[in-house]
Amino acid sequence: MINPLDLGQYSKAEIEKYEAVYGRNFISPGGLATAQEFTALLGLKAGMTVLDVGCGVGGSAFYMAQHDGAWVHGIDLSTNMIAFANERCREAHLNDRVTFANADILTFTPQSPFDCVYSRDVFLHIHDKARLMQILKTCLKPNGRLVFTDYACNTGDKSPAFAAYIQQRKYNLYTVTAYQQLLLDTGFVDVIAEDRTAQFIQILERELAAMPSDRFDTATLTSLRHSWQDKITRTKQGEQRWGLFQARCPS
Ligand SMILES: C[S@@+](CC[C@H](N)C(=O)[O-])C[C@H]1O[C@@H](n2cnc3c(N)ncnc32)[C@H](O)[C@@H]1O
Repeated sequence: MINPLDLGQYSKAEIEKYEAVYGRNFISPGGLATAQEFTALLGLKAGMTVLDVGCGVGGSAFYMAQHDGAWVHGIDLSTNMIAFANERCREAHLNDRVTFANADILTFTPQSPFDCVYSRDVFLHIHDKARLMQILKTCLKPNGRLVFTDYACNTGDKSPAFAAYIQQRKYNLYTVTAYQQLLLDTGFVDVIAEDRTAQFIQILERELAAMPSDRFDTATLTSLRHSWQDKITRTKQGEQRWGLFQARCPS
């Protein structure tokens, strides 16, 4: 089903633009490098099952299948993302290990629970975070591991520029501490919540410096550079933040 995101932030043209900055198959900060860093936290072994929530065009799913021998099911609200993901999956000959479906995590019912749930920079789109966390818990086997990153915010008032950005994107950002508390309140154990804003700034600065000028017309390149520069400014001012979260389902 076509979602409003398919017509705006995640139109096919926008997805291709994001990929030109993040790297092929990735729509989140750091691309392959952070996928390698954060999937390693799942402790995957060959044959384990992973749900990738908001999988985008599939970069992390392909990496976990190829590098760890995992079976990965990716779901995404955007039909454009899933169309690209299926295309890339066929190209990579990974159809026997990786599947994709167009689905909203808020209405998702797993056929059977997974060993791990992984998600990269998706929950910013989701307003009912308490319900989200309950659903993630039902997606996991006892002792199953959850790892996700997300854009976050600071406590206190937001500057007009940051508030306008959040409103324009229809995001709902939590503080790292609020996410930590929510994970505990949902009944997750071994919760680790890390503020990774310093790493986020380094990534943004690298991406800005490497922005491929030959892939865009001048107007697009200027607008992308402004958008990255604005993110760097907001993040350096401390109001935009980035969190890494790990948790385990109780046994
Ligand atoms: C910033 S992109 C990240 C994509 C991917 N995780 C990656 O790292 O390349 C956010 C993704 O979340 C998806 N998304 C947003 N809300 C969702 C929901 N309720 N259920 C499933 N996916 C969702 C969007 O369609 C988009 O593909």
